[in-house]
Amino acid sequence: MLIRKATEKDAVDIARVHVESWRTTYKGIVPDLYLNNLSAEEREQNWLNGIKENGVYIAEDESGEIVGFATGGKERTGKYQAYDGELYAIYLLKTAQGKGLGRKLFEVIVDDLKKKGFNSMLIWALADNPACHFYEKLGGKRIDTAEIEIGGKRLGEVAFGWQGFDV
Ligand SMILES: CC(C)(COP(=O)(O)OP(=O)(O)OC[C@H]1O[C@@H](n2cnc3c(N)ncnc32)[C@H](O)[C@@H]1OP(=O)(O)O)[C@@H](O)C(=O)NCCC(=O)NCCS
Repeated sequence: MLIRKATEKDAVDIARVHVESWRTTYKGIVPDLYLNNLSAEEREQNWLNGIKENGVYIAEDESGEIVGFATGGKERTGKYQAYDGELYAIYLLKTAQGKGLGRKLFEVIVDDLKKKGFNSMLIWALADNPACHFYEKLGGKRIDTAEIEIGGKRLGEVAFGWQGFDV
């Protein structure tokens, strides 16, 4: 497995992994109709912007296929004085999960945020997402909760925070 910084050419594969991972991760949590209607083509432009604005790191398997990605930057709401950075997204294909790759991508984002001068980080996750255990395992503390509507369904969210990058 290799982790490298994405180039603009990777936007199409990042969008594909994003949609595939959403479908397997959120089945039974987010309404099926919403998941079925997700379109990698429509997401591609967003990822092109993400690559240019914040940088995206991708994980490639032995054959050079992109199996996961992560990205982060400045905390988006400005609501949390104790948290200046944010992990915006971290997604692996189902087949690439549980092999230590998530931890590696997480550490790469922490390094990247440190280099950009951030001292802390938070991430929002759906409360029913098993990834909450991953964040707790990596030292994240539950710092807030919220509600979000996706596909007409109200869902609970949890924010996990790391101060001083105590991961
Ligand atoms: C969440 C995710 C990034 C974690 O990456 P991963 O490669 O599967 O996790 P790792 O193998 O690096 O695990 C790191 C540690 O967290 C633990 N962990 C990971 N997922 C876990 C889970 N669902 N429940 C309990 N512990 C978990 C592992 O046991 C491991 O602990 P260890 O070091 O003591 O063995 C990955 O599973 C994923 O992409 N899931 C689907 C998308 C998603 O939910 N993204 C987050 C959106 S907020």
